Amino acid sequence: MIKNVLPAQPKNAAEKRKIIKMDIKSIEKIVSLSKRRGFIFQSSEIYGGLGSTWDYGPLGVEMKNNIKNLWWHDMVTSRQNIVGMDASILMHPEVWEASGHVKNFHDPMVDCKNCKARYRADHLSFKKTCNKCHKSISVSFPTEVVNDLIKIHGKVGSNELSKLSKGIKVEPCPFCKHILSTIELKCPSCGSYELTEPRQFNLMFKTSLGALADSGDVTYLRPETAQGIFVNFSNVVTTARQKLPFGIAQLGKAFRNEITTGNFLFRTREFEQMEMEFFIHPEEADKWLDYWSQERLDWFKSLGVREDKLRLRPHDSDELAHYSTACYDVEYEFPFGWSELEGIADRGTYDLDQHNEHAKKKQTYFDQPNNKHIVPAVIEASAGVDRAFLTCLVDAYREEKVNGEERIVLKLSPKVAPITVAVFPLVNKNGLPEISEKIFNELQSEFSAFFDQGGSIGRRYRRQDEAGTPFGITVDHQTLDDNTVTLRDRDSMEQIRIPTDQAVSKIKKKLSN
Ligand code: GLY
Repeated sequence: MIKNVLPAQPKNAAEKRKIIKMDIKSIEKIVSLSKRRGFIFQSSEIYGGLGSTWDYGPLGVEMKNNIKNLWWHDMVTSRQNIVGMDASILMHPEVWEASGHVKNFHDPMVDCKNCKARYRADHLSFKKTCNKCHKSISVSFPTEVVNDLIKIHGKVGSNELSKLSKGIKVEPCPFCKHILSTIELKCPSCGSYELTEPRQFNLMFKTSLGALADSGDVTYLRPETAQGIFVNFSNVVTTARQKLPFGIAQLGKAFRNEITTGNFLFRTREFEQMEMEFFIHPEEADKWLDYWSQERLDWFKSLGVREDKLRLRPHDSDELAHYSTACYDVEYEFPFGWSELEGIADRGTYDLDQHNEHAKKKQTYFDQPNNKHIVPAVIEASAGVDRAFLTCLVDAYREEKVNGEERIVLKLSPKVAPITVAVFPLVNKNGLPEISEKIFNELQSEFSAFFDQGGSIGRRYRRQDEAGTPFGITVDHQTLDDNTVTLRDRDSMEQIRIPTDQAVSKIKKKLSN
């Protein structure tokens, strides 16, 4: 029995996939904190930046590495039947013919002929106005309907709307219940009615190999790391001596030329994936799909993400990728709506079948009990590193008022936090910095530690609260007398006095709780 599965489904596919722009205040606050504390910088900022590309700063890269290491430990190191690998980003172009990405990996795109803005057809929403009370709401439609609507251009009344075949229901006005309404098919950016019909746009980035751009040696930046696993299936079976069921895991960059990006790190054209392909006997697909869906939901909980903000949502058939027959998404409730963090998909034998047809070498598995070669089926768990990172950041962000003072604090799990403990000499004299440095050196050999002697102690605490550092050690004048320090807890802000030589063991104990 899978837990936290979404009970009720949203109305239609367009609504499920709708991109809601994050409440501007929330996103600005997170972006601003990320920059202020060195989590994330805009890419190429000194040249004006490049849209939807981001760089991880000193704290960001530590936290991202923590997330990746936790994933690797959970998926590979702690399991006997999953092995890792690391494939090239550039692969033989026929990989992408065989995988179906050249033919099928596209999104429907609509252009505004007037201002040249470009939209994903299934992300477009139009204004619907009631002819009686004149109130407006925003509505979105499935891609096929957008196609029909745009052919009409301009304003569409409820009569034309009801004539469109693809299942548009003419809903009564939510305010006055009157049935007549008008849809305005306008460009959301410039307001012109000049939208093109949806056209298919392949999401793979093309590049050419070698010095001659026109030599015909075209290939692609990989749009998923998974294919590097599929084309190495036989190599891994032979060398790692695994028996079904077993998995191959990989972490790495992938690229998609998305039509619409946005919501900070959520949808970018360059991103990092954590993917695991689990090879099974085909008749066991349902069992393993349930197993991995639950495992992966639980992994996000183990990062300290609030449970009521996480859920599993089964895909409807119209949402499935070209290679999958069933899929669950692990979703998080961002300020811009419930959105996918990871897909757990039944890819069946699709990928290995395709490579067996296209490649010169067969990828099969010798099933000893039945004494025959079979093509295993695959359950895939595919997560986005950047989305997991954004989830931890958004979930941990708090604005609090304590004793009349406001503070911003990242209540990150200590497992994820970039710095575990910060050391502060209360003042920069009387030998306190020297003792503090000695304590810092001891802590640094056990934890990710930071030494901070700049500014008032209050400001230093605030800085570490914003960095999400769970513990602080303060060295003060009493340390000189009795060799004790204070240990500060980020969340409760409580300080307890402890013997200096117990700092490491006390923090270790708190981490194990
Ligand atoms: N491998 C699945 C995906 O990239 O979405």
